[in-house]
Amino acid sequence: MLSFALTETHRMIQDTAREFAQNEIAPSAVERDITGEFPAEIVKKLGELGFMGMMVSPEWGGSGLDTISYVIAMEEISKVDASVGVIMSVNNSLVCWEIEEYGTEEQKERYLRPLATGEKLGAFCLSEPQAGSDATHQRTTAVRDGEDWIINGTKNWITNGSSADVYVVFAQTDPAKRHRGITAFILEKGMEGFEIGKKEDKLGIRSSDTCSLHFTNVRVPDANRLGGVGQGFKIAMQTLNGGRIGIAAQALGIAQASFEAALKYAQEREAFGQPIANFQAIQFKLSDMATNIEAARLLTYKAAYHKDTGKSYIKEAAMAKLFASRVAVESALEAIQIHGGYGYVREYLVERYLRDAKITEIYEGTSEIQHITIARELYKEFQG
Ligand code: CAA
Repeated sequence: MLSFALTETHRMIQDTAREFAQNEIAPSAVERDITGEFPAEIVKKLGELGFMGMMVSPEWGGSGLDTISYVIAMEEISKVDASVGVIMSVNNSLVCWEIEEYGTEEQKERYLRPLATGEKLGAFCLSEPQAGSDATHQRTTAVRDGEDWIINGTKNWITNGSSADVYVVFAQTDPAKRHRGITAFILEKGMEGFEIGKKEDKLGIRSSDTCSLHFTNVRVPDANRLGGVGQGFKIAMQTLNGGRIGIAAQALGIAQASFEAALKYAQEREAFGQPIANFQAIQFKLSDMATNIEAARLLTYKAAYHKDTGKSYIKEAAMAKLFASRVAVESALEAIQIHGGYGYVREYLVERYLRDAKITEIYEGTSEIQHITIARELYKEFQG
């Protein structure tokens, strides 16, 4: 039977995430947005709560929860601070999931376990200065040398870039085969020739850490190869399908925060002798926001459900991210409009929501890439 009800476990996770976000994240969110300081203590506590490896099996130190639980927690955390949301999302869906799915027992013991407990932090390194949307054109190279690989190149826009301990890096091992010649490797901070580059000064999600990475003859043992030689691009894409569900949930959190701020303000603020919530102009905005957010939540839950039940979720994840990120930007804009001049200043939180929302239309595949991905899946379906 189709049910829209959350289970008792889901409710418990929602309460825990909400409480943690309010008590531990909210007090420093505004200050960190200004200073750009990485929330190291908060990340450590998220690890203690089991939120850094939510879907990882308990066998490897994870919480063994489903993707719906992860989406619920991501929404609650991102509602209060989207910077913390993306740190959590990258570790959970782009690093832990990937190592659990493709790693050897040895790699899981060495890397997955500390990542899942939050003892270590992970980063996913696909984008390059010349290869963002066009991710098949990797220029970073890995050349075999006996039992090792020698890695050279530069990665860009890496979330958790300077704070991470473990990095999944994609490199070209056979250029003639193009994307079928890409291989994934697990690198550690501190390896010789691994240099952390410039930290980006961003519009939003300012207390998450984004930087470039440079590899100069970094020697990586073959035991750190993740998956088969030439399988790297498939691994990256499969991982991003799940990552996109996490970003949809992050967008959902920002949208919900925008809506709640706008609703509260509209009921408190008076103009023309009455609360502005009484005016149809405001009612239309609030009702559109609430309707769109609910639709985005259903798409995101559906993508998570597909992942949890072993169904294909490429299209569902792309749809959820495409729609939820658009709703986040639109909701933040409307929240600012409802606040009028107050929405344009830092004292009210909605200006940050807009700055934070915008990135959800860019990273883990731009909206334009999501459109292409959805169209390609639709063509496959309609070819029978
Ligand atoms: N899932 C599984 N496989 C996929 C896929 C998906 N979503 N999208 C493409 N593929 C597969 C294709 O089936 C194809 O496989 P075969 O060669 O076996 O047939 C292969 O990937 C290459 O695809 P195309 O031939 O269609 O190549 P293309 O260049 O025309 O399109 C693309 C590829 C869809 C544009 C892909 O490069 C892409 O998704 N780009 C966006 C990259 C991205 O999302 N980057 C995010 C960076 S990480 C980040 O942001 C994290 C962070 O820090 C927050």
